[in-house]
Amino acid sequence: MSFPKNFYWGGATAANQCEGGFGLDGKGAISSDFTLAGSAKSPRYITYIDKDGNVGKVSGFAPFPKDAKRTVLEDHYYPNQKAIDFYHRYKEDIALFAEMGFKMYRMSISWSRIFPKGIEEEPNEKGLQFYEDVFKECRKYNIEPLVTLCHYDTPLYLEEECGGWTNHDLIDYFQRYVETVFKRYNGLVKYWLTFNEINSLLMHFDFFKGMTEEDKRNIYLKLHHQMVASARAVKIAHSINSEYEVGCMLACPCNYPLTCDPKDILACQKKLQDTFFYSGDVMVRGSYPSYAVSARKRSGVELEFNEKDLEELKEGIVDFISFSYYSSSCVTTHKNVEMDGAGNLVLGAKNQYLTYSDWGWSLDPDGLRYILNVLNDRYQLPLMIVENGLGAIDHVEEDGSIHDQYRIEYLRQHIKAMEEAIDDGVDLRAYTAWGCIDLISASTGEMRKRYGFIYVDLDDEGNGTYNRYRKDSFYWYKKVIASNGKDLD
Ligand code: BG6
Repeated sequence: MSFPKNFYWGGATAANQCEGGFGLDGKGAISSDFTLAGSAKSPRYITYIDKDGNVGKVSGFAPFPKDAKRTVLEDHYYPNQKAIDFYHRYKEDIALFAEMGFKMYRMSISWSRIFPKGIEEEPNEKGLQFYEDVFKECRKYNIEPLVTLCHYDTPLYLEEECGGWTNHDLIDYFQRYVETVFKRYNGLVKYWLTFNEINSLLMHFDFFKGMTEEDKRNIYLKLHHQMVASARAVKIAHSINSEYEVGCMLACPCNYPLTCDPKDILACQKKLQDTFFYSGDVMVRGSYPSYAVSARKRSGVELEFNEKDLEELKEGIVDFISFSYYSSSCVTTHKNVEMDGAGNLVLGAKNQYLTYSDWGWSLDPDGLRYILNVLNDRYQLPLMIVENGLGAIDHVEEDGSIHDQYRIEYLRQHIKAMEEAIDDGVDLRAYTAWGCIDLISASTGEMRKRYGFIYVDLDDEGNGTYNRYRKDSFYWYKKVIASNGKDLD
């Protein structure tokens, strides 16, 4: 059992969670600029002003008030606006990644840095230059960038003024953006991902309470438009540079039936189809799976897509599959079972065989091996794990050291599971650990939910020096990479 010779070890971040640089150098706004921090128990709220001038807050999992606009309220802290200030500190951060021996760095381009509103004819040169500098910095250390084109940060103007992804025109706006970056970074970037966790839209069904029929229909419509935009991006990328490799990025809801009741087995199978394969099949095989119509019907949605779109889906199948994996959860049809086994974007029942993190996510390395095999069997394409890690509270000792043994243990077990999957015959090419440097949590907006090998001195209220410190896991991961996964001690 061993990792392939050119295996890409590295780490991953997303622009909106690490860059900061709110409004700087022509950057346009995105929704998270107006989103407050929450916690494991309370949701993140978005602040808004309505057409009569009344201000308020609404949960990210509730309908946004009609005709209201996102706004900044005084005396509130908006964690994503400055995030960890990667915008000004990227050189220091990439040098630290290089010190660990990273072969790959997954990051995202913020669309609104390139096209501030999303509708402009010409791109913003300062935004383009920023990413050119970042990629050159990676290349200086032989770090291969893996670039997500949209990681939960569609320009706000498109969301608020154009109807967001329910509007078919967004496919054309997205095309203009991706064509620009594919041309500009030709020679600097080889690997691209289109939409982060594109299937996460389907997972919203569990979280949004009181969805109307129109809300449900819009979910399928938005996803469809994103998948067409993604397929078009794949086609354009290949026409600009035949060596470009473009992958999809899926959130992996590893589900198990809670019991061996056949009804639970069936419910679990349906869940996987409805929230995962529904998108995976389109992006990998180029057409909707046979069960797509009934999946939509189960949500009470009837929807027809036009022929041209369906043709585009066929023409833009991906070169590889990437996904995030954190935890697993259980599906059941049985009544009176508590849905307290939450994970990344999932609600499910707790698994009695697993332990849980401080944020209630299960720790399940075998689930990673399982899902790698599922994907390998179904699609036979190269796989990349582009997010995995443990969100935990770290303590800084007086001498500045951080002993994060729990994180090392989590990563060790997941890397072992990857090795076992490779031994099973899985074609795994890359592993980029999530939040390789501490950043703002997407679900809670907290800083204290830390994933990094590198500690950032910043708290949940925005206090701190922003200085970076190496955790114990930093030195451990360095050894893992240097030994190509052999030395996990
Ligand atoms: C994934 C996202 O869903 O999970 C990331 O792609 C996110 O943006 C990550 O940060 C971990 O989730 P959280 O909520 O702990 O930040």
